[in-house]
Amino acid sequence: MNQDISIFTGNANKEFAEKICEHLNLPMGQSEVFEFSNENVFVRLLDNIRERDVFIVQPIVSPVNTRLMELMLMIDAAKRASAGRITAVIPYYAYGRSDKKDQPRVPISARLIANFLEVAGANRVLTMDLHAGQIQGFFNIPLDELTAYPLIADYFLSMKLKSPVIVATDAGGAKSAAKMANALKCGLAIIDKRRTDNSESPTASTIIGDVSGKDCIIIDDEILTGGTVKLAVELINAQNPNSIRVACVHPMFNDKGFELIDNLDIDELIVTDTVPINRAHLSNITPTIISTTDLFGEAISRIHTGDSVGALFRR
Ligand code: R5P
Repeated sequence: MNQDISIFTGNANKEFAEKICEHLNLPMGQSEVFEFSNENVFVRLLDNIRERDVFIVQPIVSPVNTRLMELMLMIDAAKRASAGRITAVIPYYAYGRSDKKDQPRVPISARLIANFLEVAGANRVLTMDLHAGQIQGFFNIPLDELTAYPLIADYFLSMKLKSPVIVATDAGGAKSAAKMANALKCGLAIIDKRRTDNSESPTASTIIGDVSGKDCIIIDDEILTGGTVKLAVELINAQNPNSIRVACVHPMFNDKGFELIDNLDIDELIVTDTVPINRAHLSNITPTIISTTDLFGEAISRIHTGDSVGALFRR
């Protein structure tokens, strides 16, 4: 690997960034990133990065606003240290659910974060499974969006389930779920989920599609409170499935989410490592964690050498 890459990370998920460095056989860039007692974040990059190809790895995970600020300040520090190019590597892009003005007088937060990143000095973004693909268009700089769906599909293919069916938790997730169903050469069911307010408590009463006697794979891009998945599991269970597995890319579980997920009547929980999860919060379920770090490492290598990132997903 070309040595003029520098990789740094904030405090969001050091292990994730270290695994990327291992994949690339590169040392982690040295930095100081901490919060003063007045909650102001301090950042200092300790390596010379003049003209280097700098990648700052930071998922925007809990505490979201602090990790976001660390990322912004690290980009600013890299810019002022004369980095040749700065790529923000954001395995989980928070605020993605605020991607449109769907109520009067609300912001489009996902767009504002994109503006922040550009103003801070990011030249490119590398991310994974945005909540909505159109968020790509909020950026005026190149953005590569990786997807964990093929990795998750490969996992299920290797299980050789007898009668799989993919279940999308709502109409919004149906397109990605359909791709997964294509990969598994199986059927698709969709939950008719609705949100009527901001209470994080969706409702659902119908499944469109056949799940009875099937090996159901509920797939979602992210889980927060677990409310969506709980509804899906209850609806499916009422139709005598053969098995139920829940898979998501970004396990952003909050306290309620950990509790709900831990008490779900399911056969398996499958997540990726874009968001670190504290397994101590799960006593009944041991999640299967699919690593995405090699994929990120490979994408970083290709961005650096100018090779195709899209080719990673062509089958
Ligand atoms: C919604 O559009 C998303 O795809 C997820 O279904 C949602 O983010 C899950 O949130 P929760 O776990 O709080 O129901």
